[in-house]
Amino acid sequence: MKLTRRTVLGRALALGFAVCSMAGSSAAFAAKPLVMGFSQVGAESEWRTANTASIKDAAKKDGVTLKFADAQQKQENQVKAIRSFIAQKVDVIAFSPVVESGWDTVLQEAKAAKIPVILTDRAVNVTDKSLYVTFIGSDFVEEGHRAGRWLLERAKKTPDATLNIVELQGTVGSAPAIDRKAGFEQEIASNPKLKIIRSQTGDFTRAKGKEVMEAFLKAEGKKINVLYAHNDDMAIGAIQAIEEAGLKPGTDIIVVSIDGVKGAFEAMIAGKLNVTVECSPLLGPQLMQIARDVVAGKPVPKRITTEEGVFPAEVAAKEFPNRKY
Ligand code: AHR
Repeated sequence: MKLTRRTVLGRALALGFAVCSMAGSSAAFAAKPLVMGFSQVGAESEWRTANTASIKDAAKKDGVTLKFADAQQKQENQVKAIRSFIAQKVDVIAFSPVVESGWDTVLQEAKAAKIPVILTDRAVNVTDKSLYVTFIGSDFVEEGHRAGRWLLERAKKTPDATLNIVELQGTVGSAPAIDRKAGFEQEIASNPKLKIIRSQTGDFTRAKGKEVMEAFLKAEGKKINVLYAHNDDMAIGAIQAIEEAGLKPGTDIIVVSIDGVKGAFEAMIAGKLNVTVECSPLLGPQLMQIARDVVAGKPVPKRITTEEGVFPAEVAAKEFPNRKY
């Protein structure tokens, strides 16, 4: 066929139109990236740093647009962040609530805006359970039980001795502080020789853990046989206080804590910490998957519990290379 200027032009226009319409249709079919607003508790511990990294990495890998807000351990900052996510009309809101109570109003606002809410790590105390779709995280009561069970076993080595325990609690009113205390107390109640003689919050931080342990040592001195810390960071801070008081952590004072961060494994390898009960912060991939299911309208379980173990000092060196946080 002879190609005239007109036919060349006509073909070029037709081709251009086809390319444009293909581009238009692929844009129309391209999946809109899911937008998640995430309100994090803060950066109070090694655990929290790992949790934030897990969420940010998973969002990036999964193509989720993440609007991340650090609440610096303040509930009012979380409420503000959630309200701003509602105003921005995100597809889904996820958050780890600093404390359990006081969420009804803001969660009702999210529900009214038809934005699903996913809880990660910590629970809320609300009467209307429809205010959140699901809760992904550890069983903190069970963690307290596991810490208590380990101590009960250890106490069998010295059946006649009374073991005086000092307890470093997490943030006042937070789910892990409430539940880990309850689980531990329920467990040790079976042995009257195990007594909690002091209990105070160390706010889940190393600095506060050290400060409160110094006060415990000043008040009780050598009467202290066991430290139960609601997280590894407080235990690590307290270990410093014990050493500065001229005592040997792990030997003079048995140290029991929760999380299983690398710092705790290092302390166990150094003989300064006796056991850590695992609490996994690596919730990001599961959160992204569940968020996609929720937004797609698929049914999801109301409670998704993380699987975890217990690591006594005897296995620390062997386990250390496998630790991911
Ligand atoms: O909510 C999980 C707890 O919060 C972790 O045990 C602790 O380390 C963190 O700060």
